[in-house]
Amino acid sequence: MTGEATTREDLNAEALRRRIVTELAAARDRTTLLTTTVDDRDLTTQHSPLMSPLVWDLAHIANQEELWLLREVDYAAPMRPEIDSLYNAFEHPRATRPSLPLLPPDEARAYGHEVRGRVLDVLERVQFNASQLTSGGFSFGMIAQHEAQHDETMLATHQLRRGAPVLAAAAPPPAPPDAPGLPREVLVPGGPFTMGTSTEPWALDNERPAHVVRVPAFWLDTTPVTNAAYAQFIADGGYHDARWWTAAGWDHRQRAGLSAPLFWRREGNQWLRESFGVTAPVVPDEPVLHVCWYEADAYARWAGRRLPTEAEWEKAARHDPASGRSRRYPWGDADPAAELANLGQVHLRPAPAGSYPAGAAPCGARQLIGDVWEWTSSDFSPYPGFKAWPYREYSEVFFGPEYKVLRGGAFGVSPVACRGTFRNWDYPIRRQIFAGFRTARSIAEESA
Ligand SMILES: [Fe+2]
Repeated sequence: MTGEATTREDLNAEALRRRIVTELAAARDRTTLLTTTVDDRDLTTQHSPLMSPLVWDLAHIANQEELWLLREVDYAAPMRPEIDSLYNAFEHPRATRPSLPLLPPDEARAYGHEVRGRVLDVLERVQFNASQLTSGGFSFGMIAQHEAQHDETMLATHQLRRGAPVLAAAAPPPAPPDAPGLPREVLVPGGPFTMGTSTEPWALDNERPAHVVRVPAFWLDTTPVTNAAYAQFIADGGYHDARWWTAAGWDHRQRAGLSAPLFWRREGNQWLRESFGVTAPVVPDEPVLHVCWYEADAYARWAGRRLPTEAEWEKAARHDPASGRSRRYPWGDADPAAELANLGQVHLRPAPAGSYPAGAAPCGARQLIGDVWEWTSSDFSPYPGFKAWPYREYSEVFFGPEYKVLRGGAFGVSPVACRGTFRNWDYPIRRQIFAGFRTARSIAEESA
Protein backbone atom coordinates (compact mmCIF):
# COMPACT_ATOMS: atom_id res chain seq x y z
CA MET A 1 0.00 0.00 0.00
CA THR A 2 1.13 3.51 -0.66
CA GLY A 3 1.94 6.23 1.72
CA GLU A 4 1.53 4.65 5.12
CA ALA A 5 4.10 5.42 7.76
CA THR A 6 6.51 2.61 8.53
CA THR A 7 5.32 1.98 12.04
CA ARG A 8 6.39 -1.54 12.96
CA GLU A 9 9.06 -0.83 15.49
CA ASP A 10 11.91 -3.23 15.29
CA LEU A 11 11.53 -4.08 18.90
CA ASN A 12 13.55 -7.00 19.99
CA ALA A 13 11.75 -9.60 22.06
CA GLU A 14 12.97 -8.19 25.36
CA ALA A 15 11.78 -4.68 24.60
CA LEU A 16 8.45 -6.11 23.48
CA ARG A 17 8.14 -8.12 26.70
CA ARG A 18 8.84 -4.99 28.74
CA ARG A 19 6.23 -3.00 26.83
CA ILE A 20 3.63 -5.74 27.34
CA VAL A 21 4.35 -5.93 31.08
CA THR A 22 3.99 -2.14 31.32
CA GLU A 23 0.70 -2.06 29.41
CA LEU A 24 -0.84 -4.99 31.28
CA ALA A 25 0.18 -3.44 34.61
CA ALA A 26 -1.20 -0.02 33.66
CA ALA A 27 -4.57 -1.52 32.74
CA ARG A 28 -4.65 -3.57 35.95
CA ASP A 29 -3.80 -0.54 38.09
CA ARG A 30 -6.80 1.29 36.67
CA THR A 31 -9.06 -1.74 37.05
CA THR A 32 -7.98 -2.04 40.66
CA LEU A 33 -8.66 1.63 41.34
CA LEU A 34 -12.10 1.53 39.74
CA THR A 35 -13.06 -1.56 41.74
CA THR A 36 -11.56 -0.67 45.14
CA THR A 37 -12.87 2.89 45.46
CA VAL A 38 -16.37 1.46 45.92
CA ASP A 39 -17.54 -1.14 48.42
CA ASP A 40 -18.72 -4.70 47.70
CA ARG A 41 -22.35 -3.64 47.57
CA ASP A 42 -21.53 -1.08 44.87
CA LEU A 43 -19.51 -3.70 43.00
CA THR A 44 -22.37 -6.16 42.85
CA THR A 45 -25.16 -3.62 42.21
CA GLN A 46 -26.33 -2.88 38.70
CA HIS A 47 -26.19 0.90 38.47
CA SER A 48 -27.96 1.00 35.09
CA PRO A 49 -29.53 -1.66 32.86
CA LEU A 50 -27.08 -0.46 30.21
CA MET A 51 -24.13 -1.59 32.31
CA SER A 52 -22.86 -4.75 33.96
CA PRO A 53 -22.27 -4.86 37.70
CA LEU A 54 -18.60 -3.86 38.14
CA VAL A 55 -17.85 -7.30 39.58
CA TRP A 56 -18.87 -8.86 36.23
CA ASP A 57 -16.32 -6.71 34.37
CA LEU A 58 -13.69 -7.69 36.93
CA ALA A 59 -13.99 -11.44 36.34
CA HIS A 60 -14.73 -11.07 32.62
CA ILE A 61 -11.41 -9.24 32.17
CA ALA A 62 -9.63 -12.18 33.86
CA ASN A 63 -11.62 -14.78 31.92
CA GLN A 64 -10.72 -13.24 28.53
CA GLU A 65 -7.08 -13.00 29.61
CA GLU A 66 -7.13 -16.68 30.57
CA LEU A 67 -8.84 -17.65 27.33
CA TRP A 68 -6.46 -15.84 24.98
CA LEU A 69 -3.12 -15.80 26.77
CA LEU A 70 -3.19 -19.09 28.69
CA ARG A 71 -5.42 -21.38 26.64
CA GLU A 72 -4.87 -20.06 23.09
CA VAL A 73 -1.23 -18.98 23.34
CA ASP A 74 0.02 -21.57 25.85
CA TYR A 75 -2.51 -24.41 25.28
CA ALA A 76 -3.26 -24.48 29.03
CA ALA A 77 -6.30 -26.36 30.39
CA PRO A 78 -9.19 -24.14 31.52
CA MET A 79 -8.76 -23.00 35.13
CA ARG A 80 -12.47 -22.75 35.91
CA PRO A 81 -14.47 -24.08 32.95
CA GLU A 82 -17.71 -23.81 34.92
CA ILE A 83 -17.56 -19.98 34.87
CA ASP A 84 -16.79 -19.47 31.17
CA SER A 85 -20.42 -19.14 30.19
CA LEU A 86 -21.15 -16.54 32.91
CA TYR A 87 -18.55 -14.20 31.47
CA ASN A 88 -19.31 -14.71 27.81
CA ALA A 89 -20.67 -11.32 26.73
CA PHE A 90 -22.58 -12.90 23.85
CA GLU A 91 -24.47 -15.38 26.00
CA HIS A 92 -25.67 -12.87 28.57
CA PRO A 93 -26.73 -9.31 27.69
CA ARG A 94 -25.77 -6.67 30.25
CA ALA A 95 -29.30 -6.31 31.63
CA THR A 96 -29.37 -9.97 32.72
CA ARG A 97 -25.92 -10.18 34.29
CA PRO A 98 -26.93 -9.26 37.88
CA SER A 99 -29.10 -12.39 38.05
CA LEU A 100 -26.19 -14.72 37.23
CA PRO A 101 -24.30 -16.62 39.96
CA LEU A 102 -21.27 -14.33 39.53
CA LEU A 103 -18.05 -14.77 41.48
CA PRO A 104 -18.16 -12.56 44.57
CA PRO A 105 -15.64 -9.66 44.60
CA ASP A 106 -12.90 -11.46 46.57
CA GLU A 107 -13.08 -14.52 44.32
CA ALA A 108 -13.10 -12.40 41.18
CA ARG A 109 -9.98 -10.57 42.37
CA ALA A 110 -8.20 -13.81 43.32
CA TYR A 111 -9.03 -15.33 39.92
CA GLY A 112 -7.67 -12.27 38.10
CA HIS A 113 -4.52 -12.31 40.22
CA GLU A 114 -3.93 -16.01 39.53
CA VAL A 115 -4.44 -15.58 35.78
CA ARG A 116 -2.09 -12.60 35.64
CA GLY A 117 0.65 -14.49 37.49
CA ARG A 118 0.47 -17.35 35.00
CA VAL A 119 0.37 -14.93 32.05
CA LEU A 120 3.59 -13.28 33.21
CA ASP A 121 5.19 -16.75 33.31
CA VAL A 122 4.00 -17.45 29.76
CA LEU A 123 5.30 -14.07 28.64
CA GLU A 124 8.80 -15.01 29.85
CA ARG A 125 9.02 -17.93 27.44
CA VAL A 126 6.69 -17.06 24.55
CA GLN A 127 8.16 -17.00 21.05
CA PHE A 128 6.72 -13.93 19.36
CA ASN A 129 7.32 -15.37 15.92
CA ALA A 130 5.65 -18.70 16.73
CA SER A 131 2.19 -17.87 15.38
CA GLN A 132 -0.01 -15.11 14.02
CA LEU A 133 -1.50 -14.75 17.49
CA THR A 134 1.85 -13.96 19.10
CA SER A 135 3.42 -12.05 16.18
CA GLY A 136 4.39 -8.58 17.36
CA GLY A 137 2.88 -9.50 20.74
CA PHE A 138 -0.60 -9.11 19.19
CA SER A 139 -2.59 -11.29 21.59
CA PHE A 140 -0.98 -9.60 24.60
CA GLY A 141 -1.69 -6.18 23.08
CA MET A 142 -5.26 -7.24 22.37
CA ILE A 143 -5.76 -8.26 25.99
CA ALA A 144 -4.19 -5.06 27.35
CA GLN A 145 -6.56 -3.10 25.12
CA HIS A 146 -9.49 -5.28 26.18
CA GLU A 147 -8.88 -4.53 29.85
CA ALA A 148 -8.37 -0.82 29.08
CA GLN A 149 -11.68 -0.77 27.20
CA HIS A 150 -13.43 -2.32 30.19
CA ASP A 151 -11.78 0.34 32.35
CA GLU A 152 -13.57 2.88 30.17
CA THR A 153 -16.84 0.95 30.48
CA MET A 154 -16.39 0.79 34.25
CA LEU A 155 -15.74 4.54 34.29
CA ALA A 156 -19.08 4.98 32.53
CA THR A 157 -20.64 2.82 35.25
CA HIS A 158 -19.07 5.10 37.86
CA GLN A 159 -20.66 8.08 36.11
CA LEU A 160 -24.09 6.40 36.28
CA ARG A 161 -23.65 5.38 39.91
CA ARG A 162 -25.48 7.38 42.58
CA GLY A 163 -23.70 8.41 45.75
CA ALA A 164 -20.76 10.40 47.03
CA PRO A 165 -17.81 11.00 44.68
CA VAL A 166 -15.04 8.40 44.95
CA LEU A 167 -12.74 9.18 42.02
CA ALA A 168 -10.04 11.84 42.22
CA ALA A 169 -8.99 13.74 39.11
CA ALA A 170 -6.40 16.33 38.15
CA ALA A 171 -7.75 19.50 36.54
CA PRO A 172 -7.21 19.53 32.78
CA PRO A 173 -4.81 22.11 31.38
CA PRO A 174 -6.36 25.54 30.78
CA ALA A 175 -7.03 26.52 27.19
CA PRO A 176 -3.88 27.98 25.60
CA PRO A 177 -3.72 31.75 24.96
CA ASP A 178 -4.36 31.30 21.24
CA ALA A 179 -7.63 29.38 21.75
CA PRO A 180 -9.98 32.40 21.46
CA GLY A 181 -8.41 33.38 18.13
CA LEU A 182 -8.57 29.96 16.50
CA PRO A 183 -10.48 29.81 13.22
CA ARG A 184 -13.86 28.17 13.63
CA GLU A 185 -13.03 25.62 10.92
CA VAL A 186 -10.02 24.26 9.06
CA LEU A 187 -9.65 23.16 5.44
CA VAL A 188 -8.78 19.54 4.83
CA PRO A 189 -7.36 19.29 1.30
CA GLY A 190 -8.89 16.95 -1.28
CA GLY A 191 -7.29 13.91 -2.86
CA PRO A 192 -6.37 10.37 -1.91
CA PHE A 193 -5.08 9.31 1.49
CA THR A 194 -4.28 6.01 3.15
CA MET A 195 -7.01 4.92 5.58
CA GLY A 196 -6.61 2.08 8.07
CA THR A 197 -3.38 0.19 8.70
CA SER A 198 -1.56 -2.95 7.67
CA THR A 199 1.52 -2.29 9.80
CA GLU A 200 0.40 -1.24 13.30
CA PRO A 201 1.15 -4.44 15.26
CA TRP A 202 -1.64 -4.11 17.83
CA ALA A 203 -4.32 -2.72 15.49
CA LEU A 204 -7.54 -4.73 15.64
CA ASP A 205 -9.15 -6.46 12.70
CA ASN A 206 -11.60 -3.67 11.85
CA GLU A 207 -8.72 -1.15 11.40
CA ARG A 208 -7.18 -3.35 8.68
CA PRO A 209 -6.06 -3.34 5.95
CA ALA A 210 -4.59 -0.02 4.81
CA HIS A 211 -6.36 1.16 1.68
CA VAL A 212 -6.46 4.32 -0.39
CA VAL A 213 -9.58 6.48 -0.17
CA ARG A 214 -10.25 9.62 -2.17
CA VAL A 215 -11.78 12.35 0.00
CA PRO A 216 -12.82 15.67 -1.58
CA ALA A 217 -11.69 18.83 0.19
CA PHE A 218 -13.96 19.83 3.08
CA TRP A 219 -14.16 22.13 6.08
CA LEU A 220 -14.00 20.69 9.58
CA ASP A 221 -14.57 22.32 12.97
CA THR A 222 -11.20 23.17 14.53
CA THR A 223 -12.39 21.78 17.86
CA PRO A 224 -15.25 19.65 19.13
CA VAL A 225 -18.59 21.44 19.54
CA THR A 226 -18.67 23.20 22.92
CA ASN A 227 -21.28 23.26 25.66
CA ALA A 228 -21.91 26.96 24.90
CA ALA A 229 -22.63 26.23 21.24
CA TYR A 230 -24.80 23.27 22.12
CA ALA A 231 -26.73 25.35 24.68
CA GLN A 232 -27.59 27.76 21.84
CA PHE A 233 -29.14 24.86 19.93
CA ILE A 234 -31.27 24.09 22.99
CA ALA A 235 -32.20 27.74 23.54
CA ASP A 236 -33.17 28.05 19.88
CA GLY A 237 -35.72 25.26 20.33
CA GLY A 238 -33.61 22.65 18.55
CA TYR A 239 -35.10 19.81 20.55
CA HIS A 240 -38.60 20.85 19.52
CA ASP A 241 -38.11 21.40 15.81
CA ALA A 242 -38.53 18.29 13.67
CA ARG A 243 -36.73 19.98 10.77
CA TRP A 244 -33.34 19.27 12.31
CA TRP A 245 -33.90 15.60 13.07
CA THR A 246 -33.98 12.47 10.94
CA ALA A 247 -37.30 10.62 11.12
CA ALA A 248 -35.76 7.97 13.40
CA GLY A 249 -34.06 10.65 15.47
CA TRP A 250 -37.25 12.67 15.93
CA ASP A 251 -39.16 9.54 16.90
CA HIS A 252 -36.49 8.67 19.47
CA ARG A 253 -36.32 12.23 20.79
CA GLN A 254 -40.04 12.20 21.46
CA ARG A 255 -40.26 8.73 22.97
CA ALA A 256 -37.17 9.16 25.17
CA GLY A 257 -38.14 12.75 26.08
CA LEU A 258 -34.70 14.13 25.21
CA SER A 259 -34.30 17.83 25.98
CA ALA A 260 -30.59 18.26 26.84
CA PRO A 261 -27.42 16.13 27.07
CA LEU A 262 -27.49 13.31 29.59
CA PHE A 263 -26.52 14.48 33.10
CA TRP A 264 -27.57 18.09 32.38
CA ARG A 265 -30.18 19.75 34.59
CA ARG A 266 -31.74 23.20 34.36
CA GLU A 267 -31.73 25.23 37.54
CA GLY A 268 -33.00 28.80 37.34
CA ASN A 269 -31.35 30.30 34.31
CA GLN A 270 -28.34 28.05 34.14
CA TRP A 271 -27.43 24.52 33.14
CA LEU A 272 -25.85 22.21 35.69
CA ARG A 273 -23.99 19.01 34.90
CA GLU A 274 -23.41 16.02 37.13
CA SER A 275 -19.99 14.46 36.76
CA PHE A 276 -18.87 11.50 38.87
CA GLY A 277 -21.06 12.53 41.78
CA VAL A 278 -20.34 16.28 41.63
CA THR A 279 -22.92 18.75 40.30
CA ALA A 280 -21.56 22.03 38.93
CA PRO A 281 -22.46 24.65 36.33
CA VAL A 282 -21.82 23.54 32.76
CA VAL A 283 -18.45 24.92 31.61
CA PRO A 284 -19.14 26.90 28.39
CA ASP A 285 -15.89 26.22 26.54
CA GLU A 286 -15.65 22.49 27.23
CA PRO A 287 -16.64 20.05 24.48
CA VAL A 288 -20.22 18.84 24.91
CA LEU A 289 -20.42 15.31 26.30
CA HIS A 290 -23.01 12.54 26.60
CA VAL A 291 -25.03 13.28 23.49
CA CYS A 292 -26.33 10.55 21.22
CA TRP A 293 -25.80 10.37 17.46
CA TYR A 294 -29.31 11.70 16.81
CA GLU A 295 -28.61 14.79 18.93
CA ALA A 296 -25.24 15.36 17.26
CA ASP A 297 -26.79 15.00 13.82
CA ALA A 298 -29.67 17.36 14.68
CA TYR A 299 -27.26 19.99 16.04
CA ALA A 300 -25.20 19.79 12.84
CA ARG A 301 -28.29 20.35 10.66
CA TRP A 302 -29.42 23.25 12.85
CA ALA A 303 -25.96 24.76 12.40
CA GLY A 304 -26.24 24.39 8.61
CA ARG A 305 -23.58 21.71 8.64
CA ARG A 306 -23.26 17.92 8.91
CA LEU A 307 -21.31 15.28 10.76
CA PRO A 308 -18.04 14.29 9.06
CA THR A 309 -17.80 10.87 7.48
CA GLU A 310 -15.44 8.42 9.09
CA ALA A 311 -13.02 8.77 6.14
CA GLU A 312 -13.08 12.57 6.49
CA TRP A 313 -12.36 12.29 10.19
CA GLU A 314 -9.42 9.97 9.65
CA LYS A 315 -8.02 12.08 6.82
CA ALA A 316 -8.16 15.18 9.03
CA ALA A 317 -6.45 13.26 11.82
CA ARG A 318 -3.74 11.41 9.87
CA HIS A 319 -3.07 12.86 6.44
CA ASP A 320 0.19 14.78 6.14
CA PRO A 321 0.03 16.83 2.91
CA ALA A 322 3.77 17.54 3.05
CA SER A 323 4.78 13.89 2.84
CA GLY A 324 1.59 12.43 1.41
CA ARG A 325 1.57 9.70 4.02
CA SER A 326 -0.75 8.92 6.94
CA ARG A 327 0.51 9.45 10.49
CA ARG A 328 -0.24 7.18 13.44
CA TYR A 329 -1.66 10.18 15.33
CA PRO A 330 -2.52 13.79 14.42
CA TRP A 331 0.81 15.03 15.83
CA GLY A 332 2.97 12.39 14.17
CA ASP A 333 4.07 8.85 14.88
CA ALA A 334 5.07 9.23 18.55
CA ASP A 335 2.94 7.54 21.19
CA PRO A 336 0.49 9.74 23.14
CA ALA A 337 1.90 11.90 25.96
CA ALA A 338 0.40 14.21 28.56
CA GLU A 339 1.03 17.37 26.50
CA LEU A 340 -0.48 15.87 23.33
CA ALA A 341 -3.89 14.54 24.30
CA ASN A 342 -6.35 14.15 27.18
CA LEU A 343 -6.37 10.38 27.67
CA GLY A 344 -5.99 7.81 30.44
CA GLN A 345 -8.63 8.86 33.00
CA VAL A 346 -6.26 11.49 34.40
CA HIS A 347 -8.60 14.49 34.22
CA LEU A 348 -12.00 12.77 34.06
CA ARG A 349 -13.41 15.59 31.92
CA PRO A 350 -12.72 17.11 28.52
CA ALA A 351 -10.25 19.98 28.36
CA PRO A 352 -11.46 23.38 27.05
CA ALA A 353 -11.85 23.64 23.27
CA GLY A 354 -8.56 24.62 21.69
CA SER A 355 -6.41 22.78 24.23
CA TYR A 356 -3.41 20.62 23.34
CA PRO A 357 -1.88 22.76 20.55
CA ALA A 358 1.07 20.34 20.44
CA GLY A 359 -1.35 17.57 19.49
CA ALA A 360 -2.85 19.44 16.51
CA ALA A 361 -3.15 17.72 13.12
CA PRO A 362 -1.43 19.11 10.00
CA CYS A 363 -4.79 20.64 8.96
CA GLY A 364 -4.86 22.59 12.23
CA ALA A 365 -7.69 20.66 13.94
CA ARG A 366 -7.19 20.16 17.67
CA GLN A 367 -8.29 17.49 20.14
CA LEU A 368 -9.01 14.88 17.48
CA ILE A 369 -7.47 12.34 19.84
CA GLY A 370 -8.67 12.35 23.46
CA ASP A 371 -11.24 14.52 25.31
CA VAL A 372 -14.46 13.15 23.74
CA TRP A 373 -15.32 10.36 21.32
CA GLU A 374 -16.58 11.97 18.12
CA TRP A 375 -19.66 10.68 16.34
CA THR A 376 -19.24 10.37 12.57
CA SER A 377 -21.99 10.08 9.97
CA SER A 378 -20.76 6.61 8.93
CA ASP A 379 -22.23 3.18 9.59
CA PHE A 380 -19.81 0.58 10.97
CA SER A 381 -18.66 -1.43 7.97
CA PRO A 382 -15.63 -3.49 6.96
CA TYR A 383 -12.76 -2.06 4.94
CA PRO A 384 -12.06 -3.63 1.54
CA GLY A 385 -10.08 -6.81 2.19
CA PHE A 386 -11.28 -7.14 5.82
CA LYS A 387 -10.54 -10.47 7.50
CA ALA A 388 -12.07 -11.32 10.87
CA TRP A 389 -9.26 -11.86 13.39
CA PRO A 390 -8.89 -13.51 15.80
CA TYR A 391 -12.63 -14.11 16.21
CA ARG A 392 -15.76 -13.04 14.35
CA GLU A 393 -17.38 -11.56 17.42
CA TYR A 394 -14.72 -8.90 17.80
CA SER A 395 -16.07 -6.80 14.90
CA GLU A 396 -17.71 -8.71 12.10
CA VAL A 397 -21.00 -9.45 13.83
CA PHE A 398 -21.48 -5.71 14.45
CA PHE A 399 -21.04 -4.55 10.86
CA GLY A 400 -24.16 -2.98 9.43
CA PRO A 401 -26.37 0.10 9.52
CA GLU A 402 -27.49 -0.26 13.17
CA TYR A 403 -24.17 1.05 14.47
CA LYS A 404 -22.53 4.43 13.94
CA VAL A 405 -18.76 4.89 14.10
CA LEU A 406 -17.11 7.06 16.73
CA ARG A 407 -13.51 8.19 16.44
CA GLY A 408 -10.70 9.71 18.45
CA GLY A 409 -11.11 8.36 21.98
CA ALA A 410 -12.18 10.22 25.11
CA PHE A 411 -10.52 11.23 28.39
CA GLY A 412 -11.52 7.82 29.74
CA VAL A 413 -9.60 5.90 27.05
CA SER A 414 -6.18 4.45 27.71
CA PRO A 415 -3.40 5.39 25.25
CA VAL A 416 -2.93 1.67 24.50
CA ALA A 417 -6.46 1.53 23.06
CA CYS A 418 -6.21 4.74 21.04
CA ARG A 419 -4.81 5.37 17.55
CA GLY A 420 -5.58 7.46 14.49
CA THR A 421 -6.99 4.27 12.96
CA PHE A 422 -8.98 3.06 16.00
CA ARG A 423 -12.71 2.56 15.37
CA ASN A 424 -15.43 2.53 18.00
CA TRP A 425 -19.09 1.91 17.29
CA ASP A 426 -22.40 2.15 19.11
CA TYR A 427 -26.14 2.53 18.62
CA PRO A 428 -27.26 6.04 17.60
CA ILE A 429 -29.37 6.32 20.79
CA ARG A 430 -26.50 5.76 23.24
CA ARG A 431 -25.61 8.62 25.60
CA GLN A 432 -23.82 7.01 28.54
CA ILE A 433 -20.61 6.78 26.52
CA PHE A 434 -18.15 9.69 26.65
CA ALA A 435 -19.22 11.02 23.26
CA GLY A 436 -19.35 14.46 21.69
CA PHE A 437 -18.79 15.48 18.08
CA ARG A 438 -17.57 18.11 15.64
CA THR A 439 -19.23 19.23 12.41
CA ALA A 440 -18.14 19.58 8.80
CA ARG A 441 -19.30 21.06 5.52
CA SER A 442 -18.52 20.25 1.91
CA ILE A 443 -16.68 22.76 -0.27
CA ALA A 444 -19.45 22.54 -2.87
CA GLU A 445 -21.90 24.00 -0.37
CA GLU A 446 -19.97 27.31 -0.43
CA SER A 447 -21.23 28.24 -3.88
CA ALA A 448 -24.71 26.82 -3.35
FE1 LIG B 1 -15.13 -7.71 26.96
